[in-house]
Amino acid sequence: MIELRDIHYARIGTRDLDTAEHFATQVMGLEKVERTADRLYLRSDHRHHTLCYFLGDPSEQIIAFNFTSWQALDAAYEYLQAQSVPCGRGNAEEAADRHVQGFIWLLGPTGNRIELLARPHDSARRYFPARDAGVTGFGHVGLCTTDPVRDQAFWLQHFNAMVSDWIGPCPLMRVNPWHHQMALFPSTRKGIQHINYQVQDFDDVMRSYYFLKDKGIKIVFGPGRHATSGGIFVYFEGPDGMVYEYSNSDRKIIEDPASYRPRQFPMHPSSFCVWGAKPDIAEFKE
Ligand SMILES: [Fe+2]
Repeated sequence: MIELRDIHYARIGTRDLDTAEHFATQVMGLEKVERTADRLYLRSDHRHHTLCYFLGDPSEQIIAFNFTSWQALDAAYEYLQAQSVPCGRGNAEEAADRHVQGFIWLLGPTGNRIELLARPHDSARRYFPARDAGVTGFGHVGLCTTDPVRDQAFWLQHFNAMVSDWIGPCPLMRVNPWHHQMALFPSTRKGIQHINYQVQDFDDVMRSYYFLKDKGIKIVFGPGRHATSGGIFVYFEGPDGMVYEYSNSDRKIIEDPASYRPRQFPMHPSSFCVWGAKPDIAEFKE
């Protein structure tokens, strides 16, 4: 069993770093940390970065978690090997590229690449947003799965993951007291289904909704309120068709973990939005 503390970053390929930079900074309000010939690092909080665009195939999409213990790397690698999970060690050059002291990677059953980070770098500077979108940090990802039951079992078997709620067969899972760091959504492909940034409050969601509309950005869901986490949200489309989400309050559910019971919601639009917004997102439809 591998103990994870939190989701840490997403890395996604793009053929067009200029467009990615404009969108990530001027639209989403993330802070550009560094741009090289083939990398764009973006901050949203205390960490060195929580999003990295790299020059490459847009279907290459990676998520990373950090360990609960800074000493866990070697034992986790040995565990994954013993469990015959496809995995490998990152070398020094790859670790430098990720701004971590060390990492291992593994492939989940759908083929998603997950990186596990040892001592990822913090920033010595305050997060200074390119636009005041109210971003407080990286929240979670929706991850595509070709078999949610199988992939849920994989996460529950090998990691300290717990199910917070289900929508149909889709588990919303956590490794810490926040409602979810990852949700699995059925798809015919692997990869990231959406990337969430947390914002300070309701006003930030609505302010961004009008801002995005004004800029002609495609809104794909919301504004609305999730039945599961209670978060108020808006989803919109970024470069290469990636869906981004702002939401507030992936509510901190686990004041009493012993009595918390994961709830089963039906696969119905009302489970995604209690206000009645209808998603224009394939994986959220019945
Ligand atoms: Fe979300």
